[in-house]
Amino acid sequence: MTNKYMYFIANWKMFGVLNSLNSLHKVLKFLKTFKNNKSIKLIYCPPNTLIRPMTKKLKKSNIDVGAQNCHENEAYGAFTGSVNSKMLKSVGAKYVIIGHSENRQVGETNKLINNKIKSALKSGLKVIFCIGETLQEKRKRITKKVLNSQMKLGLNKIKNNKNILIAYEPVWSIGTGLIPKSEELYETINFIKKRMKNYKVLYGGSVNPKNINELKTITNIDGYLIGGASQDPKKFIDIIKKTYN
Ligand code: 13P
Repeated sequence: MTNKYMYFIANWKMFGVLNSLNSLHKVLKFLKTFKNNKSIKLIYCPPNTLIRPMTKKLKKSNIDVGAQNCHENEAYGAFTGSVNSKMLKSVGAKYVIIGHSENRQVGETNKLINNKIKSALKSGLKVIFCIGETLQEKRKRITKKVLNSQMKLGLNKIKNNKNILIAYEPVWSIGTGLIPKSEELYETINFIKKRMKNYKVLYGGSVNPKNINELKTITNIDGYLIGGASQDPKKFIDIIKKTYN
């Protein structure tokens, strides 16, 4: 059993239409009676199209809404299809995920990620900064080296900042049902925390109601970034409940 303050961040990725917001009722209802509700921070990161309606729906709750990415430019400009951090803030986002491996895989570099983080912080958004090694890198036993350079370059010239949460998401565990071995995960989180003092570090990658009992024994984790399971309110609630059981 834990009483620790924990983050539960839902990353809906490219899923969800207006109707999907109906699923939030179940979560709101659950929170009203949940005895540990002062110990948790819930953040929903839906697609940009749902940020505004979602913030309206969650107005009376203490659940925050975030975006899943932003453009690096803080100024407006001719960037067809893009949205910057100011725009996200203006529709109610308080957080933004930056550096997700699904975006790194299509070309986001550490430098670009660094620029995005700077721009998001300037606009007053909090950042969920994702790092993680690929399966190939894990096999080569260079996980720490990879994480080190993602942190060093991604947070270059950014002062230790309480507006940044680090999310460790091993790429090989995203959407695969696989999670790292407990000792290994404890050690990696510890490594990140030693390198980045005073940062909260979350874990992401196939978090679900089945493996949460194992994950919650890893005491240095400050919360979870949840993909697939966060779209199903029953699973999302189950993960939260079990964390405090
Ligand atoms: P899954 O929980 O679906 O593995 O996704 C994790 C993730 O990428 C969250 O950002």
